[in-house]
Amino acid sequence: MPTVPTKLEAYAVSIFTEMSALALEHGAINLSQGYPDFQGPAFIVEAAVEALRSGLNQYAPSHGIPALRQAVASKVGRFYGLRPDPEDEVTVFSGATEAIFSTVQGLCQPGDQVLAFEPYYDSYAASAIMAGASFQAVPLTRDFSLDMEALERRSTRRTRLLILNTPMNPTGKVFSEAELSALARFCVERDITVVSDEVYEHLVYGDSVHVPIAMLPGMWERTVTISSTAKTFSLTGWKIGYAVAHRDLSIAIRMAHQYVTFCTPPALQQAMALAIERSDDYYPVLRAEYQERRDLLMTLLHAAGLRVIPPDGTYFMMADFRELGFHDDREFCRFITTELGVAAIPPSAFYQSPGAGRHLARFAFCKDLSTLEKAGERLSRLRSRAPAGPFRMGTFQPSSS
Ligand SMILES: Cc1ncc(COP(=O)(O)O)c(C=O)c1O
Repeated sequence: MPTVPTKLEAYAVSIFTEMSALALEHGAINLSQGYPDFQGPAFIVEAAVEALRSGLNQYAPSHGIPALRQAVASKVGRFYGLRPDPEDEVTVFSGATEAIFSTVQGLCQPGDQVLAFEPYYDSYAASAIMAGASFQAVPLTRDFSLDMEALERRSTRRTRLLILNTPMNPTGKVFSEAELSALARFCVERDITVVSDEVYEHLVYGDSVHVPIAMLPGMWERTVTISSTAKTFSLTGWKIGYAVAHRDLSIAIRMAHQYVTFCTPPALQQAMALAIERSDDYYPVLRAEYQERRDLLMTLLHAAGLRVIPPDGTYFMMADFRELGFHDDREFCRFITTELGVAAIPPSAFYQSPGAGRHLARFAFCKDLSTLEKAGERLSRLRSRAPAGPFRMGTFQPSSS
């Protein structure tokens, strides 16, 4: 815990840092933090090496090199019909995390309110607090559907931003077009700006379709669409993110960005520009590979006695462990990490509502099939090692709470 006063005391150590350290200490297979254990496409790495050798090693323009801004503008045009001006409406950041942070700093006044659906990616709350805003989580229904009443109850006259994440970490939910339309109407009526975190835009499964909310009527002017090359190209350490937003919003978020990182390594930007230009055929392959990983991990977790909530997107899945006699997500995740050698994330850290998410664990499947098989083998000992709980196997009924 911190020994000096800080407004971030409640966010002292992120759950990812905590669980990854525990995984390392116990030699556990790390299905907690969401980074691949395989390499991104070789041609992108080669392009970065070439760019470094060619001397692209000094400060870049603060809002990003022209080649990457142009590549992003063309891509969102081809895929979603958005037509941002690459000069004024596309901004490059050091990862989606910095894009979210700078957007919240740029758009919020102290005392404003920031809303996000829970369970939420933990940087949203910390970004709001650092901007002097208040953070309010909005629950979804039990099956992770949009609950407009809950949203209406939590919104106030000071609501400035709604942070939306679709496909959604950690639930795997993909917001439907009907849900997005209801949200769009709500935000237009109340003059709320949406920060739409779409870093998993290319990881959707089955019949699910990713729709950027910025495409909906009235939303271009009030949406900051954020994405990242980290997940799509399996290069999470590069931290190249971007935001696409109407010029008035872009001006405000660029003001914050120039005092946060100022700019992002130009050689990596150059390589990502090439990656985005050449990847229209790569996304379906990526998706098919992830679908295989998803299906495998679902089967393995089910065989281990967990009740999986099938994800429609992202590379995470949530699983209910109560049939095994565990009652607390931290206890369960510590147990499987230290006793069985598989790390997962306790998602209660992503909720503001007391007690919510305590019956679930989040598993990442951005791993080689062989890693997932090995994790499944270790987890197959769960049934025999599970504590004697009040539930007998196969007789469990979910409570109504
Ligand atoms: C929902 C969500 N947003 C943003 C990020 C961070 O993206 P980046 O690595 O580009 O900062 C993550 C990473 O896990 C995430 O899950």
